[in-house]
Amino acid sequence: MRNKILLFLLMVFSLTKTIKAQSPLFIPDTLSGSNISLYLADSVTHFYSGFNTHTIGYNGNYLGPTIVLHHGHHVTLQVHNQLTDTTTTHWHGLHVAPVNDGSPHNVILHGTTWSPSFTVLDKAATYWYHPHLHMKTMQQVLKGAAGLIIVRDSEEATLNLPRTYGVDDFPLVCQWKTFDANKQIVLSDDTDNVVMINGTINGFLNVPAQMVRFRILNGSSHRFFEFAMNDNRSFKQIGGDESLLNSPVSMNKFMLGPGERAEIVVDFSGQSGNTYYLKQLGTQLPAGYPGGPPDAMGMGTLAVLDNKDFNILQFNVTASTTIPNPVTSIPTKLTNNIITSSINAGTINFLLQGSPQMSMTNFTINGVQYQPNVINFYTLQDSVMIWNITNQSMMPHPWHIHGNHFFVKSINGTTPPANLQGRKDVVVVAPNGGTASIIMKYADFFDPIYPYMYHCHINSHEDNGMMGQFIVSSRLSSGINSLVNDEDAIKIFPNPAIADWTIKGTSTETLLECKLWNDAGQIIYQKKLEVTAGSYETIIPAKHFSSGVYLLQIIGNTSIQTIKICK
Ligand code: C2O
Ligand code: CU
Ligand code: CU
Repeated sequence: MRNKILLFLLMVFSLTKTIKAQSPLFIPDTLSGSNISLYLADSVTHFYSGFNTHTIGYNGNYLGPTIVLHHGHHVTLQVHNQLTDTTTTHWHGLHVAPVNDGSPHNVILHGTTWSPSFTVLDKAATYWYHPHLHMKTMQQVLKGAAGLIIVRDSEEATLNLPRTYGVDDFPLVCQWKTFDANKQIVLSDDTDNVVMINGTINGFLNVPAQMVRFRILNGSSHRFFEFAMNDNRSFKQIGGDESLLNSPVSMNKFMLGPGERAEIVVDFSGQSGNTYYLKQLGTQLPAGYPGGPPDAMGMGTLAVLDNKDFNILQFNVTASTTIPNPVTSIPTKLTNNIITSSINAGTINFLLQGSPQMSMTNFTINGVQYQPNVINFYTLQDSVMIWNITNQSMMPHPWHIHGNHFFVKSINGTTPPANLQGRKDVVVVAPNGGTASIIMKYADFFDPIYPYMYHCHINSHEDNGMMGQFIVSSRLSSGINSLVNDEDAIKIFPNPAIADWTIKGTSTETLLECKLWNDAGQIIYQKKLEVTAGSYETIIPAKHFSSGVYLLQIIGNTSIQTIKICK
């Protein structure tokens, strides 16, 4: 009898131990260089001891390596799809041509490899990658397919900020998840009951007693985070989705909707030996936000951890580092974000609605849902657009655009808080009449075939069709915006050419630029043209390019001419 009680106590003890056991926070490896290979495959992960959870991961069982890119460098990625399913891989936030973006159109069939190649044009910040196959995004991301991208640039490199990965600079991929009784991931996001960071549940992280940087992603399908420290200390946000902030912003809590990122610096100086926690303050989220309190009409999700405050990561403060030198204070000026000027901007309005109006799962944008073969609108390369988004539904929607950053002009009619004033690619639009106005300019790329996407980043909404797509057209073939389309002003011979095109023309300017575009919307050749006594002449080596049709642009300060040329 006594033995039985002992055995029982032992079992209870070991059970509570398995539940409460703290695991070291998993830190994904980094991958860098000009050739990066990703292998997306089915796998098994041990989130709970004794249970094999079926997951998918890039180069591992869950999530993927942190890709480190350098501004201005060229990179070629190989994405090998070893799943038994079709997929895509989207570079969330990167400014790339539509054909390299990994949208629902860049399908990677099972057993094949997709290999985009591009120059990194983005500012230093934390981006991410994840599958984007229409109607499969949620399930593939929930099962584990996602990773971070860190872009570094020379401006950020000169700042006295923590930046040694895994030492004083840590990635935190924060995700809500639902497990069933067999500890399998439930492919739905209604009843999420677990928070994991980098795939670790109840993790701890040893942090040095100095300033520590965290790159935080809300990589959840549905729920919002309101992050704080358990001692309610203040910390500094230094970066948002796609850039550093102009200056660090002091705060003691902040919200991230699905898809959003923030970089924060927490000062643990002199606190060696202490333990602190990163918390979710569900009670502090606005009413009606997934994970927060229900709204006035009682609408909202009511899963077990909604509207609750709880610890999500333990920090054990250890000795400060010797290498690198501990950062003990950070600059007051970080960067200079130049907000896109709204002069001559075009305006596009987006109305978000529940369908039917009370729906909490099915939403439309301007009355329609995503259809793969419908282009929702066209815009011209280099034109500035202001998007006014109005949310008439009863849920907040984290609105995301592809291939470019935007600036938030206003939220609910007022200037956004300082921590939302950098470059962004997700903005949360509040429910029941909330608005956001964002400004952007799609420069550098156009594509007559491949669109860019915009959508709600709640994956279940997106999969249900809360998404649209638009084409960025060459402004030059369209004859709009006071462009010159006078083919007689430029003489090209021979055309088609085999070896060289000779270009001759006249201009009232003194310096022109010539750019050659391929049909994927990429500039494949460019050079300056000096105008002497009103005319210019130059040669373009056609022999270096494959046969096909190209667009030649002659660009001055006051005119742009475009001509189709052939090889
Ligand atoms: Cu992160 Cu279109 O998405
Ligand atoms: Cu994206
Ligand atoms: Cu939504």
